[in-house]
Amino acid sequence: MDNYEFTNNWFETSAKAIWSQLFNQTKPKKILEIGSYEGASTCFLIEKLSLYHDSFEIYAIDTWDGGVEHKEMKINMKLVEERFHKNTSLAIKNSSKKIELKTFKDKSINTLSKLITNQKSNYFDFIYIDGSHMASDVLSDAILSFELLKINGIIGFDDYLWKLPNSNNLLTNPKIAIDSFTNIFALRSAIFRTPNHQVYIKKTN
Ligand SMILES: C[S@@+](CC[C@H](N)C(=O)[O-])C[C@H]1O[C@@H](n2cnc3c(N)ncnc32)[C@H](O)[C@@H]1O
Repeated sequence: MDNYEFTNNWFETSAKAIWSQLFNQTKPKKILEIGSYEGASTCFLIEKLSLYHDSFEIYAIDTWDGGVEHKEMKINMKLVEERFHKNTSLAIKNSSKKIELKTFKDKSINTLSKLITNQKSNYFDFIYIDGSHMASDVLSDAILSFELLKINGIIGFDDYLWKLPNSNNLLTNPKIAIDSFTNIFALRSAIFRTPNHQVYIKKTN
């Protein structure tokens, strides 16, 4: 699709090839995404899932305030947010399917907790965690998302090996949180793919 406005190729070079293959097999209908930015991943979800379903739901959570790394790069997050709305509106307009896109402009910990309170436990087929990269945030995103995920549903983590530039502190990176989560939830989940610095787990019980 030529008319989208994306200023980076993060999604193209990380999840796109994996999702193309994964969704052919799993065809998720209820998706939650933490960290939507300009909507590259959201637009792909809209285009791809339109091939399989007459209707589907996407919940997109973002503060649109940027992470530490975006603040250092002095990115104008107001423009990023505007591009998210423009891009996803275009994707929805170009699809003939009934798409429920719900956006939550808040910290993921707040939205995920509210979704649990609002009876959305065991609801989602696929959850993508690509919000804050700080270990404590990734860990809370993982634990709350696991509660919201159906049995046999899948969580994808981006940036397993990402490091905050100029920092040697492990707590500013996702890896220690993803490792802790996968270890502690090992009896209830299975790791089934780790391509392109990403980790995918399935909820088994
Ligand atoms: C790396 S970008 C997401 C990229 C997007 N998934 C893509 O593929 O194009 C991370 C996003 O997470 C958001 N974010 C950072 N901390 C957050 C938090 N605690 N809760 C919700 N969103 C957060 C930022 O505003 C930013 O837009």
